[in-house]
Amino acid sequence: MRSFFNFKNKEKDFFNINLDLDCIPRHIAIIMDGNGRWAKEKRLPRTLGHKAGVETIREIVKECGNLKVKYLTLYAFSTENWKRPKEEVTALMKLLIEYLKSEIEELHMQNVVVRYIGDISRLPSICQKELEKACYKTQNNNGLVLNLALNYGGRDELTHAVKEIARDIKNNNLTVECINETIISNYLYTKDMPDPDIIIRTAGEQRLSNFLLWQCAYSEFWYTDIKWPDFKKYHLRKAIYDYQNRDRRFGGLKQE
Ligand code: IPE
Ligand code: IPE
Ligand code: MG
Repeated sequence: MRSFFNFKNKEKDFFNINLDLDCIPRHIAIIMDGNGRWAKEKRLPRTLGHKAGVETIREIVKECGNLKVKYLTLYAFSTENWKRPKEEVTALMKLLIEYLKSEIEELHMQNVVVRYIGDISRLPSICQKELEKACYKTQNNNGLVLNLALNYGGRDELTHAVKEIARDIKNNNLTVECINETIISNYLYTKDMPDPDIIIRTAGEQRLSNFLLWQCAYSEFWYTDIKWPDFKKYHLRKAIYDYQNRDRRFGGLKQE
């Protein structure tokens, strides 16, 4: 039974929103944006914005676990983010290593399964190593799947899939006739995950920036001006609350 809390536009009141626990999105995907602007506002270096962003990751992962979300995909580094100054890229990679190292025990205790999507072969080898270590250690857990999008791009993913499909056809492992949407989905990095139910983007931009292009066909979009380091669990709850009050028709008609 869904009950509604009478909140008065105050962010902290979102804490008290009664969510319908039978209708929690199975897969939440987040474009964590605004770290740089958050830091700039405070006259801090951008790197400190990214560092503050890691704190938000901790809080949101925990809350998703509490709410029994099954998959949380976090857009951490896009195929286009290599265009940034070398120092920023290096700082981001360093933060990723630190996060994995410092957080792995806690994530394991929280029953989280760590996974990734994207072409990680371009990441520094130490990042790859820590990532594989985290995935291996948590592979038998059965709680939240924390799916990190690293050197991820939707177009890159599709290009990769097309190449694999072409290769399989050439090697007689696949026929042109049997290609359908399910087969294509099975060639993507997200092959054993459901499509995201909701895509959240922080910091005001209303674009996908090459995130989950195939998978977002029927995702609900939710944007906020809040910058990622300021995004708290009550913002997440508000996003889920709004999601629960949307009418997902998938091209059909509204259910009466
Ligand atoms: C998001 O914050 C983090 C990454 C893209 C890695 P940004 O660094 O894009 O922050 P803004 O958009 O410049 O404020
Ligand atoms: C998207 O944010 C990528 C990540 C959050 C990792 P960007 O900051 O890179 O996107 P644009 O450049 O504003 O589109
Ligand atoms: Mg940005």
